[in-house]
Amino acid sequence: MKTTIATLKKMKAENNKITMLTCYDYSIAKLMDETGVEILLIGDSLGNTMLGYENTLPVTMEDMIAHTAAVSRGAKNALILADMPFMSYQTSTYDAVVNAGRLMKEGHAHAVKLEGGARVCPQIRAIVDADIPVCAHIGLTPQSINAFGGFKVQGKSEEAARTLIEDAKKVEEAGASLLVLEGIPAKLAAIITKTVSIPTIGIGAGADCDGQVLVYQDMLGMFTDYVPKFVKQFAAVGEIMRQAFADYMKEVKEGTFPTEAHTYKIDDEIIEKLY
Ligand code: KIV
Repeated sequence: MKTTIATLKKMKAENNKITMLTCYDYSIAKLMDETGVEILLIGDSLGNTMLGYENTLPVTMEDMIAHTAAVSRGAKNALILADMPFMSYQTSTYDAVVNAGRLMKEGHAHAVKLEGGARVCPQIRAIVDADIPVCAHIGLTPQSINAFGGFKVQGKSEEAARTLIEDAKKVEEAGASLLVLEGIPAKLAAIITKTVSIPTIGIGAGADCDGQVLVYQDMLGMFTDYVPKFVKQFAAVGEIMRQAFADYMKEVKEGTFPTEAHTYKIDDEIIEKLY
């Protein structure tokens, strides 16, 4: 069954947890979709995970559209949620609507996500008025890394916690259908989840959100250099891949791959004529 915004609202109402994973390409989208994960997020984290940038700021609309389109082709049922990259919506409501529209028309997304609370409400309203569902994203928003002075847990003081609660209410009022809560204390995420009627999806925000999201390379153990506290590695895929690459190399070098089973045949008579 196709996941829609209505499905997700119903899941919140029925206390049925929502699953979201980042996804950036066709083959991984197919695998995730087959498991029934409700939302595939083409996060601008692809700047780090796929393109090797230090942060998400260099990611372009073209990057987001290409990866969103690839994921859309691989997923039959999941809701396709595309991130709006840095400076694709901060500049004006006009830019926000045009770029959200491109993610829908060219990337075939079903909804878009942007970072920020009260200050991006005009953009949220304008995008929603164009009939494009919006997911807001507050807390440790990676596009604000320079303003935050690094990746720091947000909402720890009373004032900061109150601001985040107000931000959550305002993005809901502006028309957001979903809300990502990133890098905030679990008890604050629980209050926000009770305060708003839209589903909250947490990453580093504890178990009381309506759903969870992880970057797939993190949860598969494909990056071991730095593992954030909130990540659980569900499999050591990185190690399996490394071993497979090494085995391949060894077999090619010793001549044990390819074997007869991996090769195409031709009649010997034809071959003789070629000498
Ligand atoms: O870009 C991303 O992957 C995200 C998630 C971490 C929520 O925004």
